[in-house]
Amino acid sequence: MKPVTAILIGAGDRGKDALASYALKHPEEIKFVAVAEPDDKKREQFIKAHDIPEEMAFTTWEDLLAKPKLADAALICTLDNIHYEPAKLALEKDYHILLEKPLSNNVKECVLLGELAKKYSHKVFSVCHVLRFTKFFSKLKELLDSKVIGDIVTINHNEYVGRIHQSHSFVRGNWGNSKRESPMILQKCCHDMDILLWLVGNNCKKISSFGSLDYFKEKSAPEGSPDRCIEGCPAGDTCPYNAVKIYLGDNVEWPTSVISADTSYEARKKALEEGPYGRCVFKCDNDVVDHQVVNM
Ligand SMILES: NC(=O)c1ccc[n+]([C@@H]2O[C@H](COP(=O)([O-])OP(=O)(O)OC[C@H]3O[C@@H](n4cnc5c(N)ncnc54)[C@H](O)[C@@H]3O)[C@@H](O)[C@H]2O)c1
Repeated sequence: MKPVTAILIGAGDRGKDALASYALKHPEEIKFVAVAEPDDKKREQFIKAHDIPEEMAFTTWEDLLAKPKLADAALICTLDNIHYEPAKLALEKDYHILLEKPLSNNVKECVLLGELAKKYSHKVFSVCHVLRFTKFFSKLKELLDSKVIGDIVTINHNEYVGRIHQSHSFVRGNWGNSKRESPMILQKCCHDMDILLWLVGNNCKKISSFGSLDYFKEKSAPEGSPDRCIEGCPAGDTCPYNAVKIYLGDNVEWPTSVISADTSYEARKKALEEGPYGRCVFKCDNDVVDHQVVNM
């Protein structure tokens, strides 16, 4: 069977590293033929790894989708606020779609994408709610559907975001500020909302929620701490969020790969001196919750 052909929109952590890397291990199943990515380094790394000709490398999704249809499928892996437009256009161009979650951080766009998915129901329109495809949740679903424990009355579900994940993504990084991207309940917990609805097989009728940002604030900063860890923090040896320890060690995979596409020591050091990931976690522009409870 011929491999599925695909285009990639957004060659960042998810697009380049988490998803498209599958094609390098399974060339008989899928082949990337074009990419849109504004970051020169990431774009070059991608076309080199996937053996894509220069003329099939584009700076933005607009440039790529202005071309006639180039492949069977489009993987849309841009940040949350650049999901709707490329997904809409790619559907209209007759691509199958794999769109990163959340669908959109705009409720109207979510509804419109739902309508488009129905309109183009002959195409695959899939959202990366990856938990559904894990062995753990697939088994759980199978057991619940077989009624092995009888009817579901209550589910107690906890989402614990690990220490590094929280500080990297939801304090220093892309999703620390809800006005810039999305609030935690959407950005992280769309996975949980999806899995709960899927497991129960029913819709939610009433919802209540409370939460706040309590810890990752200036009040928790160690005495004498500078704005950037690399400037020499008196708490550097004991602080679990010391950016120097997290990003300048031996690990150049996630989360280090996110701070700079060039993972040389010098490039990473510069990223900590100048970029968002070098900031003290207690002195960022974050506003998303660090704890939240939801009743559905
Ligand atoms: N399914 C999951 O479990 C999961 C996990 C993490 C993130 N995500 C989602 O994946 C998406 C991407 O997250 P990420 O961590 O890869 O972010 P990222 O910042 O690493 O990647 C986004 C990429 O899009 C590129 N981009 C920006 N503007 C563009 C444009 N106009 N045209 C083409 N590319 C453009 C950026 O340069 C960047 O490389 C987000 O929506 C996020 O919510 C999903």
